[in-house]
Amino acid sequence: MDRDLIPAEFQRFHDLIYKLAGIHYPAEKMALLSNRIRRRLRATKVATYDAYLQLVQTNSQPAEVQAFLDSITTNETYFFRCQRHWDFFREWATARAADPATRREGFRIWSAAASTGAEAFTICIVLHQILGNNFGGVPVEILGTDLSASILEEARAGVYRPYAVAQTPPDVVKKYFTKQGTEELLFDRQLARHVTFQRHNLMEPLMGARNFDFVFLRNVMIYFDVPSKEKVMRNAHAVTRPGGYLMVGESESLMNLDQPFTYVKPSIFQRKSETTAPART
Ligand SMILES: C[S@@+](CC[C@H](N)C(=O)[O-])C[C@H]1O[C@@H](n2cnc3c(N)ncnc32)[C@H](O)[C@@H]1O
Repeated sequence: MDRDLIPAEFQRFHDLIYKLAGIHYPAEKMALLSNRIRRRLRATKVATYDAYLQLVQTNSQPAEVQAFLDSITTNETYFFRCQRHWDFFREWATARAADPATRREGFRIWSAAASTGAEAFTICIVLHQILGNNFGGVPVEILGTDLSASILEEARAGVYRPYAVAQTPPDVVKKYFTKQGTEELLFDRQLARHVTFQRHNLMEPLMGARNFDFVFLRNVMIYFDVPSKEKVMRNAHAVTRPGGYLMVGESESLMNLDQPFTYVKPSIFQRKSETTAPART
């Protein structure tokens, strides 16, 4: 196939992607989407866009549906993305570690739309800097989830190119990574054990998880329309503990959304503590 999608084909793929992942591909991205699908045509040796659409739509090859989803997601990420966010997280985590009651409870954190794991491992680094070796005996559990199975494989491997640590102070790189080959960097295997990576579609509830103290939901809602964003926020709210925080990407506005979190400041939201009615006497 040596041409881009025509508008009618684009619309059919658009609707399928929206149905499967809540992702809204704008018409300006037709060339990008064409390129991405062409790669799948070559890999599967399917001749036309419509034949490939049919293959994915009928779910006759579930592995190909996953490969399709892997191919249409954008996985841009890096360590310490948006310094202002990490300042807020560090301050919150330091206060939580200083209070004996919350310190005992530990840290349960969700990196939703985790991509290569750079965000989940940045959380690890910051908590290690605050709590010290073995996290000072404090329980730390980090869950990283993503729609893309292939990107989660990369996250589990924990190997990064220099680009991923371009915003990370050199002494931090030295401490938490081991050089592999000429330029690749392997993230600390001991710390990585505190992170579990799992496939999850944000359009669906996250099942079986205990409530999180902090949820990172950054730089993914840019791909969603209003109903998808509202669904994701409701799903995230359901697994955030009362008083817990949710952080969204710098450029993501939740203005005018019908969603259950309380606005704290740009990018930061909180699940309100449930007020219990005074007991009757
Ligand atoms: C641009 S990356 C953001 C990574 C990281 N959160 C950050 O801010 O650096 C967006 C990620 O969202 C994932 N994604 C897109 N749609 C998703 C969905 N419906 N459910 C779960 N993850 C999704 C993509 O696979 C991709 O890895």
